[in-house]
Amino acid sequence: MAEPSLTLLVWLLATMYLNFPLWEPYLQPGSHNFSKRANFAGVGVGVLEESSSNKLYSQKQLNYFKEVANLLKQQLGDAEAKNILANAIYLSSFGGADYLSFINRTPNPTELQQREYVNMVIGNFTDAIKEIYEMGGRKFETFGLPTMVETRVQS
Ligand SMILES: *[C@@H]1O[C@H](CO)[C@@H](O)[C@H](O)[C@H]1NC(C)=O
Ligand SMILES: *[C@@H]1O[C@H](CO)[C@@H](O)[C@H](O)[C@H]1NC(C)=O
Repeated sequence: MAEPSLTLLVWLLATMYLNFPLWEPYLQPGSHNFSKRANFAGVGVGVLEESSSNKLYSQKQLNYFKEVANLLKQQLGDAEAKNILANAIYLSSFGGADYLSFINRTPNPTELQQREYVNMVIGNFTDAIKEIYEMGGRKFETFGLPTMVETRVQS
């Protein structure tokens, strides 16, 4: 399946383009220092739980993010943690795994089905972004369609 490596590719391009070092995954064992960066990405992760090819999906990533935000508060205090969350750039690639899973499950979707599904994916993604916003996040970068287009070309 083309999707996992493409998600990774988008991620790699993002890190290279923005000149960031590669993040260690949040779930990787060992001790981490999250004051500079945290990575909640995973291969084949969907916005919706039902379209993720593994146990990770957007709401779970959000919960991990909350854990890190709380950790920062404990370690650095409210003001400094808020400062970090406000200045952080939130990168995400979304939709690719969801649409691929939809196409696999629904071979000949009607236009209404497609529209409803896209609204559900975007709705859930928007909810996640809103929650980060409420916690102080302000700078968001998302990658969606390019992943999808490339996936279709390759499959
Ligand atoms: C984490 O990294 C920051 C910046 O590099 C540093 O100031 C801080 O002391 C580190 N915290 C821990 C717990 O290692
Ligand atoms: C989020 O996705 C669920 C299905 O996983 C759906 O029932 C719900 O309506 C969606 N929420 C929004 C805001 O679209």
